[in-house]
Amino acid sequence: MGLKDWIEAPAASVVPAARSKLNLLRGAAARLTTPLLPDDYLHLANPLWSARELRGRIVEVRPETQDSATIVIKPGWGFDFNYQPGQYIGIGLHVDGRWHWRSYSLTSPPNWENKKISIAVKAMPEGFLSSHLVGGAVPSGTIVRLATPSGNFALPDPPPEKILFITAGSGITPVMGMLRTMNRRGQLPDVMHIHSAPTESDVMFADELTALHAEHEDFVSKVQLTRRDGKFKLSSLDQVCPDWRERQTWACGPLPLLDEIEDVWKAEGIDDRLHMERFAVSRIDAEADGGTVTFEKSGKTITVDGATTLLEAGEKSGALMPFGCRMGICQTCVVPLVSGHAIDLRSGKQHVEGERIQTCISAAAGDCTLDA
Ligand code: FES
Repeated sequence: MGLKDWIEAPAASVVPAARSKLNLLRGAAARLTTPLLPDDYLHLANPLWSARELRGRIVEVRPETQDSATIVIKPGWGFDFNYQPGQYIGIGLHVDGRWHWRSYSLTSPPNWENKKISIAVKAMPEGFLSSHLVGGAVPSGTIVRLATPSGNFALPDPPPEKILFITAGSGITPVMGMLRTMNRRGQLPDVMHIHSAPTESDVMFADELTALHAEHEDFVSKVQLTRRDGKFKLSSLDQVCPDWRERQTWACGPLPLLDEIEDVWKAEGIDDRLHMERFAVSRIDAEADGGTVTFEKSGKTITVDGATTLLEAGEKSGALMPFGCRMGICQTCVVPLVSGHAIDLRSGKQHVEGERIQTCISAAAGDCTLDA
C-alpha cells in the first residue's frame, strides 16, 4: 500500500462509504500523529467525527408496542449505508461506566435518503440493554458506538419471485427491513408473511403490515394470535400457502420454531430454499457467563464474571497480554483459544476451540484456556 493509500485508508473495521477529501483528512489526522490523540480532539469538536470507530447519535426512540421500540440513529463518518436488508448491526452503549454491546436487526431500508438507520428493540426481562433502550432511559442525542452491519440473513436484489416469511415475536424485525426495502424500491413480489405474537397488542408494526396488505395485492399478511388461536402449525401450510414448497423462505423467531421448520424443509428436500436467522433471538442480549480462564503460556489462572473482558482478566491475573487500542480496532490483542468458549461482546458471536479471538472485546463463556 502506497503512502497516499495508507493515509487515506479508513481505520481498521471502518468501511467508508466512498473516498473523499474528508476521509483523507481524517485518515491523515489519525495516522500522522500519536495514536489516540487526534481522534480525541475530534471528539471534542463533534463526537461523531471518529476515524477509529463507527459512531452514531440516537435521534428518536419511538414506541412500537408496550415492550418494544424503534430506535432511529444517525451514523457518523465512515458508515456504509449500502448494507443488505435483513442484516443486523452491533450497538455499543455506555451505561454505568461500562460499554454494553448487543446486535439488533436493521429495520430501515439501505440507502435510506435521510441517512439514518433504524433498529427495533424488544425489551427482554433478563436483557439489560434492551430494557434500557425500550424503557426510555436513553434520551435522543445519546452517542452510541456502531459495528459494521453483518449477517447472512439477507434479501438478494432483485428478490425472488415468490417469498414466504415465517416470523414470531421480535423475529419480525429483519423481515420488516426486507419488506420496507422491497416496498420502497417498488419491487414487492408475491409475498406471504405468517407472523405469530401472543396478543394483538404484541404485534410489532401491526398498522404497517395492514397497510401493506391493503395496498399490495401480492402481499398477504397472516397474523396468528397464539393466546387466542394457539400456535401456528406448520402442518396447516398446505391450506394457508399451498405453494409453500416453491417459495424461497426466510424464517426468524424462537429456536424451537426454527428447529421445527428446518426439520420439515429437510424432510421435503427443499432446505436449499430456506434461510434462517438462528442467532436473532438468542443473540439479542446473549450474556457471557464468565468462568475460570487459564493463560497457558504465562501459567496464570483467574475466575471472572461475564462482564470482564479476557484482556482485563489476563491483566488482573498477571499474564502478559498484548494490546493496542483496547477497543476492538487494532487487532493486536488477538490470541488463539486453546479450549472452551468465549463470546464476542459486541456481536454475541460464540468462539470455539481453535479460533483466534480478540481478547479486548471478548469474555469467557464458561471455563476456557488461552494461548497467552
Ligand atoms: S483490537 Fe485493539 S486491543 Fe483488541
